[in-house]
Amino acid sequence: MGRTIGVISGKGGVGKTTLVANISLALHELGENIIAVDGNIGTANLSLHFGMVHFPKTLNEVLEGNASLNEVVYTHTSGLRIVPSSLAIKQSGASGRKLKDFLSSLEGINIVDSSPGLHDQSMEVINACDEIILIATPEISSLTDAMKVLAVAKNQDKKIIGTVLNRVKGKKYEFSKDEVEEALGIPVIGTIPEEGKMRESAFNGIPIIIYNPHSKASIEFRRIASSIAGKEFIAPRFAWLKRILWSGSI
Ligand SMILES: Nc1ncnc2c1ncn2[C@@H]1O[C@H](COP(=O)(O)OP(=O)(O)OP(=O)(O)O)[C@@H](O)[C@H]1O
Ligand SMILES: [Mg+2]
Repeated sequence: MGRTIGVISGKGGVGKTTLVANISLALHELGENIIAVDGNIGTANLSLHFGMVHFPKTLNEVLEGNASLNEVVYTHTSGLRIVPSSLAIKQSGASGRKLKDFLSSLEGINIVDSSPGLHDQSMEVINACDEIILIATPEISSLTDAMKVLAVAKNQDKKIIGTVLNRVKGKKYEFSKDEVEEALGIPVIGTIPEEGKMRESAFNGIPIIIYNPHSKASIEFRRIASSIAGKEFIAPRFAWLKRILWSGSI
C-alpha cells in the first residue's frame, strides 16, 4: 500500500503547488516511486509548474467515473509521474469517496496538492490522505487560517508530518520557527526562503530545484524531500559559491 500525503494550507497562495511540484521532483530524483497528484480539482495548476498542458483525460474524469488510473498518469520529461486535474473551467461536485478510492489504489509515495481553506474540495483531500503537510507563510493571517485546517486534520486522526514555512525573509515582523511550532503544536519541517527566481521558474514551467538548483530554497526543498523519504540529506558542497557565481555579482 502506498503513502498519500496531502499538502494543505489555511490561506490561499502560500505555496502549496510550488511545494508539491518541487518535493515530488526531488523525491523522484531520490529514486522514490512517486506520483504528484493535483487534488486542486477546481483551480488546477500543478501541471503548469512542469510546462504540461495537454491531457486527454484528467483526475476530473476519474472522479466522474469516466476514466481509469492508467489513463490519467502522465510522465514528465524528468520521469516524474503526474496526475493532473483539468485546466478548464468545470463544475465538480463532491467526489470525496472516489478521490480516496483513487488514492488508495496508488503505490509508492503520492503527494497531493489541494485547494486552500476548509471548503468541500480541500476537505476531500484531507479526508482522502493518510498524512498531511501543512504550509504557511510567517504572518498572522496565514498562521491563524493554518490553525483551523490543522484542527480539522487532527480531528480526523491524520498523521501530521509537520509545517513548511514558506517565503521567509528573515524579517523581525515575521513569526519565527519557534513561535510557529508553539502556535501550531507541530514541528516545522522546512523553512523556505523568499526566492527571487520563483516566478521566472513558473513562467518557464521548470521547478525551481532545476531552474535555480543552488538556491537556498532549492536546497531546502530537497532536504524536505529526503526527510519524507527517510533518507539522509547531504547538502551540496559549495552551493554558496555557485550562488555567487550564477548571480553574476562578482
Ligand atoms: N519561496 C517562494 N519565494 C517566492 N515566491 C514564491 C515562493 N513560494 C511560492 N511563491 C510564489 O507564490 C505564488 C503562489 O504559489 P503557489 O501557487 O504555489 O501557492 P498555492 O498555495 O498553491 O496557491 P493556491 O492556494 O491558489 O492554490 C506563486 O506566484 C509562486 O511563484
Ligand atoms: Mg495551488
